[in-house]
Amino acid sequence: MITELQEAKRMAMKIQDPVETLLSIQDLHVWYELRRFGFSVVGHVKAVDNVSFDLAEGETVAVVGESGCGKSSLMKTILGLNNPTGGRVVFDGDDLSKLKGEGLRNYRFKIGYVQQDPYGALPPFMNVQKILEEPLIISGMTDKTERLSRIRKVMTEVKLHPIEDFLHKFPHMLSGGQQQRIVIARAMLREPKLIVADEPVSMLDASVRVEILKLMRALQESHGLSVIYITHDLSTVKYFSQRIFVMYAGNLIEKADTRRLLQNPLHPYTHALLAATSDPDAANAESFKEVPPGEPPSLVNPPKGCRFHPRCSRAMVGLCDEKEPVDFEPEPGHLVACWLYQP
Ligand SMILES: Nc1ncnc2c1ncn2[C@@H]1O[C@H](COP(=O)(O)OP(=O)(O)OP(=O)(O)O)[C@@H](O)[C@H]1O
Ligand code: SF4
Ligand SMILES: [Mg+2]
Repeated sequence: MITELQEAKRMAMKIQDPVETLLSIQDLHVWYELRRFGFSVVGHVKAVDNVSFDLAEGETVAVVGESGCGKSSLMKTILGLNNPTGGRVVFDGDDLSKLKGEGLRNYRFKIGYVQQDPYGALPPFMNVQKILEEPLIISGMTDKTERLSRIRKVMTEVKLHPIEDFLHKFPHMLSGGQQQRIVIARAMLREPKLIVADEPVSMLDASVRVEILKLMRALQESHGLSVIYITHDLSTVKYFSQRIFVMYAGNLIEKADTRRLLQNPLHPYTHALLAATSDPDAANAESFKEVPPGEPPSLVNPPKGCRFHPRCSRAMVGLCDEKEPVDFEPEPGHLVACWLYQP
């Protein structure tokens, strides 16, 4: 296992420097309406609140945070599956809010989606060939020979050999790792520019997790893909991402390149996340053993000021419980939303 992890780390080092902005998220809000008996709106679940970031072409970013902090809501909005309540999503030059019909369909073709639960993501009554043909038919590839040739190409890339053995199998006849390879093959079918992977290995056996991460890294390299990798497990991110965004209660509270964030975490919540990982390489892991007490806050009525203040041992009365922190940049490229770093 250690050898495999080292190999995955080596591959992560080979990532090319990013070039141009592919995705720009600007002041994004995703609020779900809370209705009484299905009628009047009595509040909102503020799943994503004022989130901004840019993703470069070929760049890999990990979004980490506890369950319910808004990771999937953010990704579904980027995929065009959720309507933002406010803000903008600009992808490959297209403003998502201006797209409809065919424009929106073409937008979605450029983003591949790898879900958490591969079995749930695959239609149970379709065999592998049908599962992979369907998106090609929808995208207008009418020639069957062309479709099969494309399917063979992606199946080779995700290392499902021999192809003939898999084409007529149904999802329940495949192992979890094989199912996830089919999900990845489906995400790659239409030559996307971006892959959004939402906890792609969390439901797999430990023995296949590294293999799937290595496969995704190899695809990222060979196709120059951008990847957003969502996880609550910080121990896997350094093998996969150039930057890490830490999410807490709908906000991105720390953004930095991977090495810097693991070596020098700034936000008290990031310390807590690192302390909770078993990663022996994470600097400061020993010095931040104390995971803050309490639960993540309600996203309907988040705490005033810093959303983390009820759990933060360093909270400053009269400041943290009153004023929402803005992003500070204590070192170049390292952003943190915490009053401790106010210059
Ligand atoms: N369609 C919806 N309607 C109302 N509330 C929703 C909806 N989808 C998500 N939520 C709520 O929004 C918040 C964020 O959910 P989300 O699924 O984005 O979190 P997450 O970080 O992906 O969590 P997990 O790690 O468990 O997958 C949660 O409080 C969730 O209950
Ligand atoms: S702003 Fe205050 S409460 Fe929030 S993380 Fe920083 S020190 Fe803690
Ligand atoms: Mg989720």
